[in-house]
Amino acid sequence: ATNRTFTMIKPDAVADGNIGGILKMIEEAGFKIIAMKYTRLTNELAGKFYEVHKERPFYGELVEYMSSGPIVAAILEKDNAVEDFRTLIGATNPADAAEGTIRKIYAKSIGENAVHGSDSDENAAIEGNFYFSMSERF
Ligand code: CMP
Repeated sequence: ATNRTFTMIKPDAVADGNIGGILKMIEEAGFKIIAMKYTRLTNELAGKFYEVHKERPFYGELVEYMSSGPIVAAILEKDNAVEDFRTLIGATNPADAAEGTIRKIYAKSIGENAVHGSDSDENAAIEGNFYFSMSERF
Protein backbone atom coordinates (compact mmCIF):
# COMPACT_ATOMS: atom_id res chain seq x y z
CA ALA A 1 0.00 0.00 0.00
CA THR A 2 1.04 3.61 -0.51
CA ASN A 3 2.37 5.08 2.69
CA ARG A 4 4.82 7.57 4.08
CA THR A 5 8.23 7.77 5.67
CA PHE A 6 10.27 10.58 7.13
CA THR A 7 13.85 11.56 6.33
CA MET A 8 16.50 14.07 7.32
CA ILE A 9 19.54 14.97 5.26
CA LYS A 10 21.98 15.35 8.15
CA PRO A 11 24.46 18.19 8.86
CA ASP A 12 27.49 16.46 7.29
CA ALA A 13 25.71 15.87 3.98
CA VAL A 14 24.30 19.42 3.90
CA ALA A 15 27.74 20.91 4.70
CA ASP A 16 29.35 18.81 1.95
CA GLY A 17 26.93 20.09 -0.70
CA ASN A 18 25.09 16.80 -1.13
CA ILE A 19 21.44 17.92 -0.76
CA GLY A 20 20.89 17.85 -4.52
CA GLY A 21 22.60 14.49 -5.07
CA ILE A 22 20.62 12.85 -2.28
CA LEU A 23 17.25 14.33 -3.34
CA LYS A 24 17.94 13.15 -6.89
CA MET A 25 18.47 9.59 -5.68
CA ILE A 26 15.30 9.79 -3.58
CA GLU A 27 13.17 11.06 -6.48
CA GLU A 28 14.68 8.61 -8.97
CA ALA A 29 13.79 5.77 -6.60
CA GLY A 30 10.13 6.79 -6.96
CA PHE A 31 9.53 8.69 -3.73
CA LYS A 32 7.22 11.69 -3.89
CA ILE A 33 8.06 14.67 -1.65
CA ILE A 34 4.99 15.51 0.47
CA ALA A 35 6.64 18.09 2.76
CA MET A 36 10.14 19.55 2.99
CA LYS A 37 12.09 22.16 4.97
CA TYR A 38 15.63 23.45 5.41
CA THR A 39 16.10 24.08 9.11
CA ARG A 40 18.36 23.63 12.10
CA LEU A 41 17.64 21.79 15.34
CA THR A 42 18.55 23.38 18.67
CA ASN A 43 20.30 21.09 21.12
CA GLU A 44 17.02 20.74 23.01
CA LEU A 45 14.99 19.79 19.94
CA ALA A 46 17.62 17.28 18.79
CA GLY A 47 17.47 15.75 22.27
CA LYS A 48 13.68 15.44 21.97
CA PHE A 49 13.79 13.99 18.46
CA TYR A 50 16.22 11.26 19.53
CA GLU A 51 14.71 10.72 23.00
CA VAL A 52 14.25 6.98 22.28
CA HIS A 53 18.05 6.69 22.22
CA LYS A 54 18.70 8.61 25.44
CA GLU A 55 20.10 5.60 27.29
CA ARG A 56 22.55 4.80 24.48
CA PRO A 57 26.24 5.63 24.94
CA PHE A 58 26.26 7.71 21.74
CA TYR A 59 23.22 9.88 22.66
CA GLY A 60 25.23 12.97 23.68
CA GLU A 61 27.36 12.82 20.56
CA LEU A 62 24.29 12.26 18.38
CA VAL A 63 22.42 15.27 19.82
CA GLU A 64 25.53 17.47 19.51
CA TYR A 65 26.05 16.43 15.90
CA MET A 66 22.40 16.76 14.81
CA SER A 67 22.28 20.33 16.14
CA SER A 68 25.69 21.28 14.67
CA GLY A 69 24.35 22.69 11.40
CA PRO A 70 21.34 22.91 9.10
CA ILE A 71 19.48 19.84 7.90
CA VAL A 72 16.75 19.09 5.35
CA ALA A 73 13.66 17.34 6.77
CA ALA A 74 11.10 15.72 4.45
CA ILE A 75 8.06 13.47 4.37
CA LEU A 76 8.15 11.00 1.47
CA GLU A 77 5.38 8.92 -0.10
CA LYS A 78 5.62 5.66 -2.01
CA ASP A 79 4.40 2.10 -2.02
CA ASN A 80 6.00 0.34 0.95
CA ALA A 81 7.76 3.61 1.84
CA VAL A 82 9.42 2.76 5.18
CA GLU A 83 11.02 -0.48 4.06
CA ASP A 84 11.95 0.69 0.55
CA PHE A 85 13.53 3.86 1.92
CA ARG A 86 15.65 1.87 4.37
CA THR A 87 16.82 -0.25 1.45
CA LEU A 88 17.68 2.90 -0.54
CA ILE A 89 19.72 4.45 2.29
CA GLY A 90 21.55 1.26 3.32
CA ALA A 91 22.94 0.14 6.69
CA THR A 92 23.44 2.63 9.55
CA ASN A 93 27.19 2.06 9.36
CA PRO A 94 28.38 3.01 5.85
CA ALA A 95 31.05 0.31 6.12
CA ASP A 96 28.18 -2.24 6.03
CA ALA A 97 26.02 -0.39 3.47
CA ALA A 98 25.35 -2.04 0.11
CA GLU A 99 26.84 -0.63 -3.12
CA GLY A 100 24.70 2.09 -4.65
CA THR A 101 22.94 3.05 -1.42
CA ILE A 102 22.84 6.67 -0.23
CA ARG A 103 24.97 5.94 2.84
CA LYS A 104 27.52 3.97 0.83
CA ILE A 105 27.93 6.97 -1.46
CA TYR A 106 27.60 9.89 0.99
CA ALA A 107 28.07 8.79 4.63
CA LYS A 108 31.34 9.32 6.50
CA SER A 109 30.82 7.13 9.58
CA ILE A 110 28.16 5.43 11.72
CA GLY A 111 27.47 8.78 13.42
CA GLU A 112 27.83 11.13 10.45
CA ASN A 113 25.79 8.91 8.21
CA ALA A 114 24.27 11.45 5.78
CA VAL A 115 20.58 10.56 6.15
CA HIS A 116 17.92 9.38 8.57
CA GLY A 117 15.07 7.07 7.64
CA SER A 118 12.14 6.09 9.93
CA ASP A 119 12.16 2.49 11.13
CA SER A 120 8.36 1.95 11.26
CA ASP A 121 5.08 3.46 10.05
CA GLU A 122 4.38 4.57 13.60
CA ASN A 123 7.70 6.39 13.96
CA ALA A 124 7.34 7.89 10.48
CA ALA A 125 4.12 9.57 11.64
CA ILE A 126 5.63 10.74 14.94
CA GLU A 127 8.75 12.12 13.22
CA GLY A 128 6.79 13.82 10.44
CA ASN A 129 4.54 15.45 13.04
CA PHE A 130 7.61 16.70 14.91
CA TYR A 131 8.55 18.94 11.96
CA PHE A 132 5.42 19.61 9.92
CA SER A 133 1.97 20.98 10.63
CA MET A 134 -1.12 20.07 8.58
CA SER A 135 -0.74 23.16 6.38
CA GLU A 136 2.80 22.16 5.41
CA ARG A 137 1.95 18.77 3.88
CA PHE A 138 0.95 18.32 0.28
P1 CMP B 1 19.53 7.33 12.60
O1 CMP B 1 18.97 6.31 11.70
O2 CMP B 1 19.26 8.76 12.33
O3 CMP B 1 19.05 7.03 14.09
C1 CMP B 1 19.89 6.94 15.20
C2 CMP B 1 21.25 7.44 14.91
O4 CMP B 1 22.20 7.21 15.91
C3 CMP B 1 21.81 6.74 13.71
O5 CMP B 1 21.14 7.18 12.57
C4 CMP B 1 23.28 7.09 13.79
O6 CMP B 1 23.58 8.31 13.16
C5 CMP B 1 23.48 7.21 15.28
N1 CMP B 1 24.24 6.08 15.77
C6 CMP B 1 23.84 4.80 15.80
N2 CMP B 1 24.82 4.04 16.32
C7 CMP B 1 25.84 4.86 16.62
C8 CMP B 1 27.11 4.67 17.19
N3 CMP B 1 27.54 3.45 17.55
N4 CMP B 1 27.90 5.75 17.35
C9 CMP B 1 27.45 6.98 17.00
N5 CMP B 1 26.25 7.21 16.46
C10 CMP B 1 25.45 6.17 16.27
